[in-house]
Amino acid sequence: MTLDAAKIRKDFPILFQEVNDEPLVYLDNAATSQKPAAVLDALRHYYETDNANVHRGVHTLAERATADYEAAREKLRGFIQARSTKEILFTRGTTTGLNWVARSYGDANVNEGDEIVISYMEHHSNVIPWQQLAKRKKAILKYIELTPEGFLDVEDAKKKITAKTKIVSLTQASNVLGVVNPIREVAKFSHAAGAILVVDGEQSAPHMPIDVQTMDADFFAFSGHKMCGPTGIGVLYGKQSLLEEMEPIEFGGEMIDFVHLQDSTWKELPWKFEAGTPNIAGAITLGAAVDYLTAIGLEEIHQYETELVSYVLPKLQAIEGLTVYGPQETKQHTGVISFNLAGLHPHDLATALDMEGVAVRAGHHCAQPLLTYLGLSAACRASFYFYNTKDDADRLVAAILAAKEFFQHGSLEVR
Ligand code: ALA
Repeated sequence: MTLDAAKIRKDFPILFQEVNDEPLVYLDNAATSQKPAAVLDALRHYYETDNANVHRGVHTLAERATADYEAAREKLRGFIQARSTKEILFTRGTTTGLNWVARSYGDANVNEGDEIVISYMEHHSNVIPWQQLAKRKKAILKYIELTPEGFLDVEDAKKKITAKTKIVSLTQASNVLGVVNPIREVAKFSHAAGAILVVDGEQSAPHMPIDVQTMDADFFAFSGHKMCGPTGIGVLYGKQSLLEEMEPIEFGGEMIDFVHLQDSTWKELPWKFEAGTPNIAGAITLGAAVDYLTAIGLEEIHQYETELVSYVLPKLQAIEGLTVYGPQETKQHTGVISFNLAGLHPHDLATALDMEGVAVRAGHHCAQPLLTYLGLSAACRASFYFYNTKDDADRLVAAILAAKEFFQHGSLEVR
């Protein structure tokens, strides 16, 4: 294995507890990740030593808070290889970022009869803003098909993305199927058709190196809480040339240059998009999360998670009655694995796993169009991160076998 997860997990205090009298195995990282002590310390340090409002005070604490807030923006710039901090907008999370693009870029550039193209594997944050935009503008929302194996159907994407397409919006990694999409390739033919490419990075940014320039995304949105940072903070990257032309979504303090009685002017990028007191502590703490992840190495994290999935996937596939959804191989795969056990509702299975101390998510995973496409109403999902171990994977498999045994024979003999 490429990194020492047994050592790394000691950085995460929350993992050292019992749930239902069993040591916790946390496998719901696609919903939110846990936070290492370094990130928790950064939050406490900020509030204990530097807390003040940013960009408005001249006193020492205000200057320190402002410097730390902008230093965090620079860390985030480096994390995704953006050209400039002008391209890094702090948001509440992925959902806010995608809504901003739909509201600002979309309202200004999409007209009646234009087309917006997404795929069947998007989660709701990358569906509903485009549905709403299509309704506002009488535009057409189209969906790219998936292959029978669960990959994006690139040939279908090439057919669906035409001269009528104004926006293509695609997840880099599915929160249900665990599949990683060929963003660079889609960017090429989207741009050739005259469309922009929006990338939902919520399931990729925490797990692999991101280079927005190489992938040639026009926008890239991600959340802090899925990458060891706190909730309520995220980033929207946008190419500077596009952001310069866009109107802010929210108006008020912090984002203005001068306010006249009937009109106002805006600050330059990135601040024109950040109305009101921002989530200062969140941004600074997310900067600490970036430091933490970068010290481990995103390439190492990606490789490790691939190894972990290679270890557990065959064990899950070998369980009679268990169906794993999406690609059955680990090529282009993240640490997300969704499955159902025949004869057992996914909520019952997840409850049974919780009784064994194993935390997974069950339900529609905020991706109802995908579940409908797969002919499902719900599934269980185990999602691994770099602090999960082979032992965690074994505990998942054992808990599924125990649940199976219990529901078939009413006993809990299998461990
Ligand atoms: N998109 C988040 C998940 O997959 C909420 O759990």
